[in-house]
Amino acid sequence: MKIGVYPGTFDPITNGHIDIVRRSFQIFDKVIIAVAPNPKKKPLFDIHERVEMIREATRNIPNVEIEIFEGLLAEYMKRKGVHAIVRGLRAISDFEHEFMMALLNRKLDGGVETVFLMPSEEYSYLTSSAIKEVASYGGVVKDLVPPMVAQHLRERFQKGPK
Ligand code: COA
Repeated sequence: MKIGVYPGTFDPITNGHIDIVRRSFQIFDKVIIAVAPNPKKKPLFDIHERVEMIREATRNIPNVEIEIFEGLLAEYMKRKGVHAIVRGLRAISDFEHEFMMALLNRKLDGGVETVFLMPSEEYSYLTSSAIKEVASYGGVVKDLVPPMVAQHLRERFQKGPK
């Protein structure tokens, strides 16, 4: 069985991430969405809320597994015995950062390769931060994120941003 690991912070998951998950199945039989706590980014949603939103958003996609991983991605890959990392490459501006991460991960685990997928153009400008910013000002994000995520964002910003 060909397995790919799609790592990220997913704060929160967007339609762009889901597009990448769906595209991954052209190559892989199973996709593990590996959620990093990533405290450096000061996430809006805690890790369990993020996992819950991913679970809901992917519940109709078979062969998706969701896991939390802490520490180095390369170590997690070794522990799982999986050799392929999936990342979306949205624009030239992603390239440098993604190139660095792919090479660093390969240096840390020589058996690992990163596979880059192009998202659909309609999502190629999305980031989780942009969505949070729009939602924080009461903007409409319903076409950009799954319904449950839009609901969570509304509730969170009604209470006022963290
Ligand atoms: N659609 C929409 N948004 C997308 C996207 C897509 N297809 N692909 C990426 N993005 C967004 C993400 O939501 C994120 O937005 P944000 O910065 O507003 O939160 C941004 O683009 C990419 O951020 P980046 O930091 O590159 O990725 P990430 O937060 O998704 O995940 C990890 C980064 C978790 C994979 C990385 O930090 C990691 O591996 N951490 C573990 C520690 C480690 O091993 N470090 C060494 C490896 S270099």
